[in-house]
Parts: sequence; structure tokens; C-alpha cells
Amino acid sequence: MTAVRIREVGPRDGLQNEATPIPTETKLAFIRALMDSGLPEIEVTSFVSPKWVPQLADAAELVPQLPPELRAWVLVPNAKGLERARAVGAYRIAVLTAASSAFTERNLNMTRDEATATALSLLAERGPNDAQRVYVSTVFDCPYAGRVPLADVLATVRAVAASSADEISLGDTIGTATPGDVRELAQALLREGIAPQRIWWHFHDTRGTALANVYEALHVSSDWAGFDSSAAGLGGCPYAPGAAGNLATEDLVYALERDGMATGVNLDRLARASEPILAQLLRTGPGSTGSGRASSRVQRAILAAER
Ligand code: HMG
Ligand code: MG
Repeated sequence: MTAVRIREVGPRDGLQNEATPIPTETKLAFIRALMDSGLPEIEVTSFVSPKWVPQLADAAELVPQLPPELRAWVLVPNAKGLERARAVGAYRIAVLTAASSAFTERNLNMTRDEATATALSLLAERGPNDAQRVYVSTVFDCPYAGRVPLADVLATVRAVAASSADEISLGDTIGTATPGDVRELAQALLREGIAPQRIWWHFHDTRGTALANVYEALHVSSDWAGFDSSAAGLGGCPYAPGAAGNLATEDLVYALERDGMATGVNLDRLARASEPILAQLLRTGPGSTGSGRASSRVQRAILAAER
């Protein structure tokens, strides 16, 4: 059976856009439940400015309480974020840039070239156990500048690929890509000689195309490193208006497993993992499998609480 790797990003990408404050204990329980469902690698939080993303202001409290066996990833945007992450022992570090300068200007207060230079400078001092990921956002469309030229995407990916990064995660930040777009980019990356083993795909699911995009990527090559997704399809970026949640991990696991690709994830446990968070948010997530399974239980919990 072919195996497909999944990077769960729910505790970071899934929660960063939520206005309802979620207690650190609830986040920890969410992360433990995700681990128990068989997800070994989870992006747990961000060391970004708490003024920019208040929901993740508790990153330095959360990280030291994580189970040591978890392969926990954190997102950092600048030197201050790296310093805060290192101070609590985080060493799987994700940094970020984008193919569109209009996006980095709103999301990071830096031009694209500044963002790329900053991201790569954060990778320079690599510790012996470190693992490194670079996000390249807006590889299809930018919420501010529209369609992003393929040449800009390839130039950014080339610059990032020349670094020590183990992983490059390509973000369909606002979930506009179609399988045709993915085929074009995937084939261009292979033509450029970018090693598919370093490439992760990060699809948001605004228009319901994310799962089709995963399958199209797999159709072009089965050698990609893996796919990012978020439990219950939570997610979005506060600086990417119009973006819906990430591809729901439940939907990804369901489809891959049914089609004979092993994920190592127990779908029932996974569906239960996000229930406390969904109840906290008093709504269901947009992921169709996740919300379908979780919604009836969550609705019952809400009705019981209201009685
Ligand atoms: P800035 O305002 O230009 O920063 O923001 P600054 O250096 O001028 O600092 C302003 C204040 O923030 C100062 O505090 C700093 O100390 C503090 P003050 O003196 O005013 O009290 N500060 C920090 N505090 C804690 N941690 C830090 C930090 N840095 C500065 N790391 C900055 C620049 C990069 C900080 C800001 O723009 C930022 O935090 N941006 C992050 C936004 C974000 O998290 N977006 C969502 C993640 S990206 C995403 O979702 C896309 C992705 O999923 C892939 C995809 O879907 O495509 C990854
Ligand atoms: Mg994202």
C-alpha cells in the first residue's frame, strides 16, 4: 500500500483566524487528541506578534506542555519569533514568504524580497536536531493582487530551494486553485528540477477544490513530501480576506484510505479530536466529512448546554 504523509496544521492555521479565545488547556487537549488519532507531526502554534494574531499569544505557555514524543512544528515570522521559539525549546521551525509582494506586505509588513531574505536568514543558524520548513504562500492567487504569475512563483521557490530548508510548503492561501492550475505548477516545478520530496502542498478549500487538487498533484507525481490539512477544515489567514479553512484532514484521510493510500490516521478518533474546539467555537467547521460527523454531536452538546 502506498503511504501518504499528512501534516496537521489545525492548531496553528486552524485556530489563528478564530476570534473566540480558546484556553491553552483546550488547545493542548486538541493536540493530544490529534496525536492519538495517529498524526505524528503537528504544527502547533506561531511565535508571531500577539498584536497581529491574538489567538496564538499563548505560544510560549503551550509549547513546554506538549508531549515530548510529538514532532511539533511552530511558525516564526522574524528574529524575535525565532528567539521566543528557541527559548522554549522548539526546533522544528517553519518560516514564511510568498510569491506575491502585496500579500507579504499585508501579512508580514515586508516586501516579498524582504520576507524571503528574512525567512532564509532565520534558517542560517541550524542546530543539529533542527528541521526546517519554508512556506511559499499565494502560489496561485493573491487576495490583493489577483492571479500570481507562474514566473514569480518559480523565482520564489527557486530562491527557497537553494536554502537548507528540508521542506517547502506551497500555499493556495485563498483556496482558488483548480486541478488544472495544480497540474501546471507541479509540472513546472519538476521541469525546474525542484526535488518533489521537499515539496508539501497546502490547499485551502474555499471553493471545494482542495481534495481534487491533492489528487491532481498525486497524478503528476507520487513523490511529493505530503499534504497539509486541518482537522474539521478549520483555518484561514486573518490577512487573507475571503479565504476559507484548510482542506479538512477528515476528508483527506477518508479519500486516501478508501483509495488504498495509507495515512496511519484513525478517522473516528480524528473526527472526535476537534469536537471540544468546535463546541468552544459554537459552530461546526467547514470540512464536509469533519463537520458532518462532528456537527450532530456538537449540536447535541450545544442544545444540552442551553437547556
Ligand atoms: P511589525 O508591526 O512590522 O513588527 O509586524 P515590528 O518589528 O515593528 O514590531 C511591532 C511590535 O510587535 C513590537 O512590540 C515588537 O516587539 C512586536 P511593541 O514594541 O510595539 O510592544 N513583535 C513581536 N512580538 C512577539 N513575537 C514576534 C514579534 N515580532 C514583533 N515574533 C510581524 C511584523 C512579522 C511581527 C507581523 O507582521 C506578524 O506577526 N505577522 C504574522 C501574521 C500571521 O501570523 N499571519 C498568519 C500566518 S501566515 C498563513 O497563515 C499562511 C500559511 O498558512 C500558508 C498559506 O496558507 O499560504 C502559512
Ligand atoms: Mg494556510
